[in-house]
Amino acid sequence: MLRKKPHAVLGLPTGSTPIPMYKELVRLHIKEGLDFSHAIFLNLDEYIGLPKTHSQSYYYYMQQYLFTQVNAKAKNIYIPSGIAKDIEKECAKYEDKIRQVGGIDLQVVGIGTNGHIGFCEPGVSLSIATHKATLAQRTRKDNARFFKGDVSQVPTHAISMGLGTVRKAKKIILMANGQKKSQAIYKMLIEPITTHMPASALRLHNNVTILLDKAAAQKLKKAVAPNIKTNRIHINALTALTVTL
Ligand code: PGA
Repeated sequence: MLRKKPHAVLGLPTGSTPIPMYKELVRLHIKEGLDFSHAIFLNLDEYIGLPKTHSQSYYYYMQQYLFTQVNAKAKNIYIPSGIAKDIEKECAKYEDKIRQVGGIDLQVVGIGTNGHIGFCEPGVSLSIATHKATLAQRTRKDNARFFKGDVSQVPTHAISMGLGTVRKAKKIILMANGQKKSQAIYKMLIEPITTHMPASALRLHNNVTILLDKAAAQKLKKAVAPNIKTNRIHINALTALTVTL
């Protein structure tokens, strides 16, 4: 994408899953001169209450894994502030910013074990814009591993792009690794589209690629491939399964 369109607008996630992707982007920058100087970066989410300097803030994560390792320009980096005084205003400003830069060309997302995208937790509208999200208890438990296993340290709220925001991106890539994601992957693709499974909203988009390792594809491979009649499914060398919706 960056080679074809150096000014691309990239929506980027955090978490364990995308770390190898950031390592590969850094490698491409160092070894093959991939240029990030014109790209625009928008973060999927940020914890409310954590300053930029907190080692678990998503600002800190992005600096650590990508921005300080490549030639990204600070003026092209947009991450909502988790310590903004007026969170509602910060959310509205973020949506404005996405519009001003011409919309997102490529949005990369992970998926929670409960099917969340960003911090759009089960129950949230499939069209919601950037909003103040309340973290599901399951998400806080899942993320406790980043806070020395202490769930009480995991923030209760975050600013998150909404499913509506994500669905406006021109292209979406969802990545999932590990057996613990296999149930959510199965449900998002096979069961009805529902607010109980936020990731199922991606089926309303016409350009989504899902990259799974073998473990995350487990349930899908056995049960589901024949049911996704309108979609192309193919195996490639890097991942167990790529589903193009
Ligand atoms: P993970 O998080 O990559 O750390 O599993 C994904 C998510 O919660 O969206």
